[in-house]
Amino acid sequence: MKHRTPLLFLAVTALSAAPAVHSLTGYANVFIDPTDILNKTYPNIGPANKTILNWAEQSAQQGPWTVSKKPFPPPSGDYHDYMSWAPYWWPDCSINVHNTTALSPQQIWQQCNYVQMDGQLNPDNRLINNIGDLGSMADAILYNSLSYVLTGTTEYAARVVTYINTWFLNGDTKMNPNLNYAQMQGGPNGQVGTHTGILDLKCMSKIVTGVLLLRQAKPGPWTSDVDTGLKSWAKEYIQWLTTADIALQERKAVNILPSNHGTFYFNQLAALQILVGDTDGARQSIEEYFNGIYMAQVDANGDQSFESARTRPYHYRAYNLAAMITNAKLGRYVGVNVWNKTTSSGATIKTALDYAMSVPPSPAERDYAAELYPNVAAVAAIYGDPNNTYAGFLAKAEGAGYVKDACFLWSQPLSDSGLANAPPSVVTFSASGVTYSASKPAVWTGGPTAPAATGKKENAAFSFTLASWRAYGVLYGACIVVMIASFVEFL
Ligand SMILES: *[C@@H]1O[C@H](CO)[C@@H](O)[C@H](O)[C@H]1NC(C)=O
Ligand SMILES: *[C@@H]1O[C@H](CO)[C@@H](O)[C@H](O)[C@H]1NC(C)=O
Ligand SMILES: *[C@@H]1O[C@H](CO)[C@@H](O)[C@H](O)[C@H]1NC(C)=O
Ligand SMILES: *[C@@H]1O[C@H](CO)[C@@H](O)[C@H](O)[C@H]1NC(C)=O
Ligand SMILES: *[C@@H]1O[C@H](CO)[C@@H](O)[C@H](O)[C@H]1NC(C)=O
Repeated sequence: MKHRTPLLFLAVTALSAAPAVHSLTGYANVFIDPTDILNKTYPNIGPANKTILNWAEQSAQQGPWTVSKKPFPPPSGDYHDYMSWAPYWWPDCSINVHNTTALSPQQIWQQCNYVQMDGQLNPDNRLINNIGDLGSMADAILYNSLSYVLTGTTEYAARVVTYINTWFLNGDTKMNPNLNYAQMQGGPNGQVGTHTGILDLKCMSKIVTGVLLLRQAKPGPWTSDVDTGLKSWAKEYIQWLTTADIALQERKAVNILPSNHGTFYFNQLAALQILVGDTDGARQSIEEYFNGIYMAQVDANGDQSFESARTRPYHYRAYNLAAMITNAKLGRYVGVNVWNKTTSSGATIKTALDYAMSVPPSPAERDYAAELYPNVAAVAAIYGDPNNTYAGFLAKAEGAGYVKDACFLWSQPLSDSGLANAPPSVVTFSASGVTYSASKPAVWTGGPTAPAATGKKENAAFSFTLASWRAYGVLYGACIVVMIASFVEFL
């Protein structure tokens, strides 16, 4: 079998020794009740405001995005059909075809046999990057709509409208409302989408968050044409998502019961139902999840054993937690409180988080450590943090970094451990009975000037600005590589 060099993995591995640089974090998923933002239920904005404005700029530099941008179309011949390749499938051209150098990427994909190599990402997947573009757009919509609300600057809202028009509405560039060609496995028998590809659109709940914010805030660019256009697209897509064979397999998490795939399916479905105003449908979807596959997802001790059995247990536990939390937040928006809902083993989302916090990543998974942190912040906000267990954990893990993280804005109430907006000095704070020392940051300046370097405790990964981009040019390149790699949806 011919192995192609996994370029992204090599790059990530080679650069992982470099200090982390804070670039835009593509959270596994996000849903924010717009009312909490618009009613300023979260007064403790802290440095997250500046981070969100920075990330709005960063993400906007790549847009707008269109599904039609790809070197060749899926088997339908229609560039408007979304297309992606299963990440762990690799071509073996020695069987069907003798001279691989004479083959174009399209010929390799159509003619060679494809075989699965679990956990090994095929970098060829990026030749068709509908999935990366969609993920980038969802983040751009989230951060630009939040930035509109935080500043009242219309340009942010105008960007969101451009992204939505380009991806969903404009006749030349829009996506057809189906995932018939998502996560195709390649080869003569792999020219159809598979149910795992439904995961590609999980970021719908980020997009819906942005849309709900603008729909309520009513900036000029958010016209009724855009709103009704997007609604009709979503209605057509919901029809597909609730009837297509591969979509129904994903809904039941067939073959992969009861993994994160099913959890994310309901993120997507409930968010879209909220978008089109089908509150009853959204409520039913959330109840179907929490009375269904959720019941088998968390063991009595909080382990998610179906995720822990995977190749990267720390990552998968954090990943499914993000999806469970998103489902619970969608539920809260439509009047279903599932935070205390127990699985068959008697565990809650909090139990799952507490367990995940108790198992540090192995050396092989060290680079995924931060994936758990937004979940820690969310659980602190929902269940309370009377003993400073969660804020203390974050302060220990990230120093001042966690209050600069965008999700600090929508994870309130959450203690800032005295690390926000304080002059540089060493502070102590205690968590779970242990006292830690940490360097306070300079007042977060963000914007076009680089923040002054602060103590070592401050996570450099959270001090990204336009100016430091120049300074850290090479490292930022590394970060982009990591970001691209992270867009690959792990099965
Ligand atoms: C938010 O504000 C709106 C009016 O702007 C009000 O109708 C609504 O009740 C408020 N919601 C909460 C949760 O405070
Ligand atoms: C494979 O095909 C290419 C392009 O047609 C040609 O240049 C090359 O010599 C061929 N290699 C072999 C080993 O036949
Ligand atoms: C966020 O920061 C911007 C830029 O400094 C400022 O104009 C805005 O008032 C801030 N918003 C909030 C809600 O603090
Ligand atoms: C869970 O249930 C307890 C006891 O009824 C209640 O005090 C608490 O507010 C609930 N938590 C959430 C997040 O709803
Ligand atoms: C906080 O700590 C006290 C004293 O150790 C303990 O009794 C209580 O159960 C803790 N509360 C939580 C929510 O962990």
